[in-house]
Amino acid sequence: MTLPKLLHTALLFTAASRLASAFNFTVANGQIYTPGLAILNAPQPGTPLGGELIEVSLDVSTNGRLALPPYPSDSPSQIHNITIFLYSYITGRNFTISNGTASANNASLGEIMLQEPGSTVKHVKWLWPDCLVGDGQPKTPDSDRGAYNISIRQSFRLNGEDHYTIFDVPISVTNSIEERSDRPSCGALDNALWTPEDILESADFDVPALFAPGDSTVLQTSENTNGQDGLGPAKPPAGSGQGLGSGASSLADKGRMSWVLGLGMVAAMLLP
Ligand SMILES: *[C@@H]1O[C@H](CO)[C@@H](O)[C@H](O)[C@H]1NC(C)=O
Ligand SMILES: *[C@@H]1O[C@H](CO)[C@@H](O)[C@H](O)[C@H]1NC(C)=O
Ligand SMILES: *[C@@H]1O[C@H](CO)[C@@H](O)[C@H](O)[C@H]1NC(C)=O
Ligand SMILES: *[C@@H]1O[C@H](CO)[C@@H](O)[C@H](O)[C@H]1NC(C)=O
Ligand SMILES: *[C@@H]1O[C@H](CO)[C@@H](O)[C@H](O)[C@H]1NC(C)=O
Ligand SMILES: *[C@@H]1O[C@H](CO)[C@@H](O)[C@H](O)[C@H]1NC(C)=O
Repeated sequence: MTLPKLLHTALLFTAASRLASAFNFTVANGQIYTPGLAILNAPQPGTPLGGELIEVSLDVSTNGRLALPPYPSDSPSQIHNITIFLYSYITGRNFTISNGTASANNASLGEIMLQEPGSTVKHVKWLWPDCLVGDGQPKTPDSDRGAYNISIRQSFRLNGEDHYTIFDVPISVTNSIEERSDRPSCGALDNALWTPEDILESADFDVPALFAPGDSTVLQTSENTNGQDGLGPAKPPAGSGQGLGSGASSLADKGRMSWVLGLGMVAAMLLP
């Protein structure tokens, strides 16, 4: 058996959307590369979700290249903090998953970089709030279930330059979520929704997906990080000739990236 290492081809598939532009995702070996130092392991874009809670799994070590905090103060690359919201322009909701300060009973969570110390993967587990209880598609027009984005916001420094990026992962809250007496109230977690224009103003949308296989972005880290420079090999190893993320993932290409709008996606297929 050969190992599934080669990225073979990129597929463009468009979600039910009339938008002209496509929302491209850079996916390799099941991981989703973000415009930041964190890499999303789960959930995959477009997944129907439900259950007790939602779990967002993030590798915060750039697949082993970046050390964990506390970073040396001179480290040219580091994650300052990560916040996550769950929002929908359809339902009008914008729930706090984590804004860095835990609320009562962890209804919203504390700083993600500080959870699971020593672990390069942060498993962000958030109890679905009460108004998302139900099963299947939204059944009434005022239902809060349905299409959402997990909005992953990274404040980070890359090679001496600070960035704040927003990475929206579309999911659908359509699987079963059972009633529980301890579900947080939606009202307590809800925030005002910003207009798309204000969102575009608020963050750096010219940062492309970083560190996907084939991407040539170099990550500079501090010399004195555990006696190493933290520059481990990329995991998974880059396949040859896949082209995914190569030229397009260079920070020099700033301004040409318009992937932020729209709903299609590009996935890299794995060859056995
Ligand atoms: C995240 O880090 C940035 C840069 O240090 C800071 O300005 C911001 O207030 C921090 N946000 C949170 C939620 O901690
Ligand atoms: C999800 O995010 C995309 C891009 O940011 C946006 O166009 C879309 O309207 C959002 N979806 C929902 C359900 O709000
Ligand atoms: C909230 O989560 C933190 C980190 O997982 C944990 O240490 C703390 O005990 C939790 N607090 C409550 C009230 O559950
Ligand atoms: C964090 O989110 C919770 C829940 O939405 C909210 O009550 C709290 O005021 C927020 N804190 C900050 C610092 O934004
Ligand atoms: C959701 O609320 C947070 C906290 O107020 C805000 O920073 C973010 O821009 C909001 N998201 C949307 C899509 O409006
Ligand atoms: C998405 O990726 C495809 C294939 O690389 C490209 O042709 C298309 O222009 C991209 N769309 C956007 C909006 O960046």
